[in-house]
Amino acid sequence: MGLRAGLIGCGGLGKVHTEALQQLDGMKMVAFGDIIGEKAEEFAAKYGGEYGTTDTQHIIEDPRIDAIYICTQHDSHADLCIRSLDAGKHVMVEKPLALTVEECLAVGEAVKRSEAILMTAFKMRYYELIQKAKELIPEPLLVVMQMMDNRWPDEIWANDPIKGGGNVLSQGCHSCDILRYVAGSNPIEVYAGGGNYYQKTGVVDNLAAVFRFENSSVGNWIQGDSNSPPLTSKFYLEAFAEGKSVTLSDRLCTLTYSENGKEPQVFKGTETGFVEENRAFIEAIKTETPPPIDHIDGLYATLMVLQAFESLESGRPEPIASLVEA
Ligand SMILES: NC(=O)c1ccc[n+]([C@@H]2O[C@H](COP(=O)([O-])OP(=O)(O)OC[C@H]3O[C@@H](n4cnc5c(N)ncnc54)[C@H](O)[C@@H]3O)[C@@H](O)[C@H]2O)c1
Repeated sequence: MGLRAGLIGCGGLGKVHTEALQQLDGMKMVAFGDIIGEKAEEFAAKYGGEYGTTDTQHIIEDPRIDAIYICTQHDSHADLCIRSLDAGKHVMVEKPLALTVEECLAVGEAVKRSEAILMTAFKMRYYELIQKAKELIPEPLLVVMQMMDNRWPDEIWANDPIKGGGNVLSQGCHSCDILRYVAGSNPIEVYAGGGNYYQKTGVVDNLAAVFRFENSSVGNWIQGDSNSPPLTSKFYLEAFAEGKSVTLSDRLCTLTYSENGKEPQVFKGTETGFVEENRAFIEAIKTETPPPIDHIDGLYATLMVLQAFESLESGRPEPIASLVEA
């Protein structure tokens, strides 16, 4: 019999994960929860679910459910992860894992005392050309990750300091995860500049930072919502090694590979990821193996952003890996 999942948070990403599961064998979304009852019922009706409810604890404790998808605003992620793991449910949690280091660590404790697995949803790791970049330059010296969006409205929840944390935190954890993934190493420290320039909620809206990694590589991170530049596109990545480089533009869907003395090569890819991360989650549950992206990855991504914020305040480099080890 296939695995049965429950969704908490029937919004944009809840829809994406439910529809990704419909394209895969092995797991079906059967229960739908949301603080807004109509949304839960609408999803249950649309996707052939068994029920929709505002009582999320009912889904978490439902013995006929194997896994919980957490697709709510960021301030509820940690609590929902912990309650689900303590009820023995596998968890797929949308990024960021949580908004504070304490919350990330509390989720880590719940993972340790549970036999269930937790996967943090970082779909960009599955982009074809991110994989290609790692294959072409497995040991980069320098990595540049830029994610610049058009201005986010002040009133959306993602710009709320409590519910969302702002563009730099909300989307920046994707960028930081990719920087660490492509660098192939954990970050020792970060030095950042930037801050709150215009969002009325006071969140950090634009930032540039440098990470030093344990393998001696360096990562440069640019994140914000002052404008999405047409030349690079919203997502842009470069990695350099001696005598070669990769440049990913066009939302990471065009990769240009350059090697000294050779004609540049161009590769095309697509924005894959949601189906692939769900396939990997199902596989990990079925084979009882660790998920490919876990709570430690979630912790690192959140910490990379939060310590960059710390550096904005202190004016100094701030540690990362030593905090995780401690
Ligand atoms: N991976 C990606 O590329 C990507 C893209 C966009 C958003 N996200 C993430 O997905 C998550 C959800 O974002 P979204 O855009 O779908 O938001 P959304 O506002 O469309 O949906 C969130 C839903 O959660 C419900 N909700 C909020 N708190 C709840 C609670 N405590 N219990 C039950 N339901 C609750 C809301 O009523 C809403 O229906 C966030 O973590 C966000 O950062 C990821």
